[in-house]
Amino acid sequence: MAILHNPVVDAILARRSIRAFQPDRPLTADELETLLACGFAAPSGMNLQSWHLVVVQDQALLEEINQGFIAMVKSRPSLPPIMVERLKNPNYSVFFRASAEILVCCDATRGPTNSAHLAENVVLAAQSLGLGTCFIGGVLDFFKTPEGAPYLKRLQIPEGFEPMYFLSVGVPAESPDARPRDLTKVTYIR
Ligand SMILES: Cc1cc2nc3c(=O)[nH]c(=O)nc-3n(C[C@H](O)[C@H](O)[C@H](O)COP(=O)(O)O)c2cc1C
Repeated sequence: MAILHNPVVDAILARRSIRAFQPDRPLTADELETLLACGFAAPSGMNLQSWHLVVVQDQALLEEINQGFIAMVKSRPSLPPIMVERLKNPNYSVFFRASAEILVCCDATRGPTNSAHLAENVVLAAQSLGLGTCFIGGVLDFFKTPEGAPYLKRLQIPEGFEPMYFLSVGVPAESPDARPRDLTKVTYIR
């Protein structure tokens, strides 16, 4: 057996979560439009398209959320080692200072599945355009605190929709190795 290569397969296999981005390089309007078009092209049950995106390029707002998140994390009695390591960097941002954040939301009555398809389309389209992405789910805990809750309004999430994760998007400033994958998680019935 061998893996067959084409541009789509190669983009899927080359994608990594990117946590360092080239500063001062906003997404172009065409890049953003392409990412959104690819996201909205995702399949959804009964074509319900039960998703909503919030594109955030207001870096001041993102930094406010980041600082609130850091304060919340630092107030915890213990931190996972990865967070201890990340917080040693005085320039750390939970968003990794990406050019843009795309907040993926789902219709609360429909659940997250369709929106996850959309998100993966965005991520793979970004890879194919030479852009890097990272899913950012950890920050959502901040919005459940009294300090963080007001930001849900500022993010203009429509009534009835829930945030799932942000997608950090920008031009990569790192090229990490692939993280291990377990290729045995499959059953064949022949
Ligand atoms: C739903 C979801 C939430 C994630 N949240 C975070 C996050 O908050 N911060 C982070 O650095 N990476 C986050 N990640 C990235 C994962 O850590 C990453 O996908 C995984 O380690 C595999 O690495 P790879 O994406 O480079 O293949 C998230 C990924 C997913 C799918």
